[in-house]
Amino acid sequence: MNYRHAFHAGNFADVLKHAVLCALLRRLQLRPKPLSYVETHAGAGAFWLDGPEARRSGEAADGILRLARLQPASPALATYLDLVRGLPGNEQGIRIYPGSPLVAARLLGAQDRLVLSELVPDEAAGLRRLFRGDARVAVHCRDGWEALGALLPPTPKRGLLLIDPPYEAPDDLERVVAGLVLARQRWPVGVLAAWYPVKDRRALRPFERALDRAELGPGGVLRAEVAVRPDDNPGSLNGSGMLLVAPPWGVADDLRALLEETWGALRQPGAPPPRLEWLRPPA
Ligand SMILES: C[S@@+](CC[C@H](N)C(=O)[O-])C[C@H]1O[C@@H](n2cnc3c(N)ncnc32)[C@H](O)[C@@H]1O
Repeated sequence: MNYRHAFHAGNFADVLKHAVLCALLRRLQLRPKPLSYVETHAGAGAFWLDGPEARRSGEAADGILRLARLQPASPALATYLDLVRGLPGNEQGIRIYPGSPLVAARLLGAQDRLVLSELVPDEAAGLRRLFRGDARVAVHCRDGWEALGALLPPTPKRGLLLIDPPYEAPDDLERVVAGLVLARQRWPVGVLAAWYPVKDRRALRPFERALDRAELGPGGVLRAEVAVRPDDNPGSLNGSGMLLVAPPWGVADDLRALLEETWGALRQPGAPPPRLEWLRPPA
């Protein structure tokens, strides 16, 4: 496996994923009950934007470094940007970019729990260092697809699962659908989320058909997508989406404003408008 998230940290796709994550957690936290946050592909948890990988790719320039100039009207986007700006080390500008586990850990409270799975030993070691002394966090250095069944259902019972694979394997979209179905069976009350890349939109049709057939329960399937370039080029990452199964009530309204503002700040010529649609409405 060649994938190293440090090259992509804070790019336009990371920004969408982490802003949507903030929107989901904000809604889940409206009820004062403990939450679980579970991740199958957690990464290292924090990334240096002035480190060699991020400097070489330069991807954050068209992602967080551009978005951070906004004073957003969307409360969910403001939560995300405040979180990034407020990280220790970012007082003079954004040098440290939070991975999804750190985004979740910063929003969650003392009564909540994080269960994180990461296959690559160096990345898992980074996660362990980051959360040393944080009793809420359990890090598992293991295959996230295999771990899924074993880690669910978590305690506390309310909460969120994020599936965020590197999409290096040709069948990762199929594995996401299978993972969501398994997660739904093992954890009927959890909110489920999966990130996916948008290159050539037409290539997503089998994924959409598979989702249509999948047993994902009565809570509905919502997709939130932002493309920053025309989405018809299989050779480049042009956008990305978050698939949300049984999203918390009201989050679709939050996301509408969040997507519009994110797209407005990051789009390049020819980018199609953002998509927010129920692939399956709640029953
Ligand atoms: C897209 S990155 C995750 C980024 C992270 N979720 C975030 O937003 O900060 C995918 C991660 O999955 C890890 N990975 C790859 N195959 C895996 C597997 N089978 N199980 C668990 N982790 C895996 C990679 O090492 C990489 O850190």
